[in-house]
Amino acid sequence: MANIELRDIVKTYGDGFKAVKGVSLDIADGEFMILVGPSGCGKSTLLRMIVGLEDITAGELKISGKRVNELAPRDRNLAMVFQNYALYPHLSVFENIAFPLRLARGQFTEDEVKQKVNAAAAVLELQDHLDRKPANLSGGQRQRVAMGRAIVRDADAFLFDEPLSNLDAKLRGQMRTEIARMQRRLGITTVYVTHDQIEAMTLGDRVAVLKRGELQQVASPRELYEQPVNLFVAGFIGSPPMNFLPARVDGDVLKLPICDIPIPGELQQKLEGRDLPIVGIRPEYIKDSSVQRPNDRDVTFEAQVDVTEWLGNEQYAYVPFESDPAVQHKLDELDRDLDGEGLRTQLVVNLDARSRIREGDVARFHLDPAMAHVFDLATGENLTRNEEEAARIARESEEDRRRSLERSKAREAAEAGAS
Ligand SMILES: Nc1ncnc2c1ncn2[C@@H]1O[C@H](COP(=O)(O)OP(=O)(O)OP(=O)(O)O)[C@@H](O)[C@H]1O
Ligand SMILES: [Mg+2]
Repeated sequence: MANIELRDIVKTYGDGFKAVKGVSLDIADGEFMILVGPSGCGKSTLLRMIVGLEDITAGELKISGKRVNELAPRDRNLAMVFQNYALYPHLSVFENIAFPLRLARGQFTEDEVKQKVNAAAAVLELQDHLDRKPANLSGGQRQRVAMGRAIVRDADAFLFDEPLSNLDAKLRGQMRTEIARMQRRLGITTVYVTHDQIEAMTLGDRVAVLKRGELQQVASPRELYEQPVNLFVAGFIGSPPMNFLPARVDGDVLKLPICDIPIPGELQQKLEGRDLPIVGIRPEYIKDSSVQRPNDRDVTFEAQVDVTEWLGNEQYAYVPFESDPAVQHKLDELDRDLDGEGLRTQLVVNLDARSRIREGDVARFHLDPAMAHVFDLATGENLTRNEEEAARIARESEEDRRRSLERSKAREAAEAGAS
């Protein structure tokens, strides 16, 4: 059990490249922390500095309050689970799990090894497979063997670097829930690198979003989704992504290519001197008015639908719009930052599965202007972020985390009592 503190951590590689530019992060005991961001943003570098596979150029790393910058990887007592699991093909599952104990020559008696491996195998439901070879196991079982090896070491924390990235989509989904269950069950501090935002949203107690070596926001998945601090986080979290529309301030309305929305009082002040903000609207906040009735404060508009996609439980409609050259360069830059494939200037609408809107239709839509985010064009800052609401979400997420940790500890105690 451990907490991990990163204080102004910097990594400058030998060739002078600054991959991590002063990252500070507190990972609580038992917390599941996700590091996420586009390729090359420094996720693996950060993780490798935590385990000790990479020197820390500047800043301080503490594990359970103790500075570990100078400690060798084996003295940090952290367990890293690699993408390819690194299992030994000629050894049985039992011996693969026992491997770290055998390495610590003479430290454990044969009985202790057996006891530890069996305990880990019980947690991982691998008891029936202990005599088998890794080659004969499913991808998910191999993953569990790799975790077993981390468990027997009684490591203080688990570190994962994109462990599921070479699995197919279905297995990836299964393994995701498997890892979540395991982490809850063990209540062990976990740092998990991914660039898959579904993994980030579903696994993380909190998610740290990185962009070019800099931390953008650290928050629960819900806070990132509902109260992003800037354009980058808003665009990175969510699939399909948030729609970004060029806006013009005209008195007390924001003129968008699709409709006008009223500017609430608090925002009016903030918008002074910012005539060209960017408005962000999530695809699910735009509704088909023929299926759902608009509320009083909703804004309605008509638009021609270019393409629709039906996916069974939901469908998407695409509505092209005219962009604004003054804003488009910023959106193109954002797209490059997000590793995008060139954003089309089209609105994506996540329609109710019942909607009968079809390609070529001129349809009636509505949206709640309170659900729109407004971003500063120059800095990308989210001018509509509600700090009170964000703090409330953070409190709730922390309560959820504590509760689930307590449940896992109670279960462990009950099992220890029973055996
Ligand atoms: N040994 C090295 N020497 C110089 N630069 C490096 C070295 N290793 C990584 N980098 C650079 O540091 C930056 C961060 O790399 P890192 O591997 O941490 O990214 P990442 O976020 O894990 O990306 P990915 O999602 O592609 O795995 C990249 O620009 C990379 O080119
Ligand atoms: Mg990486």
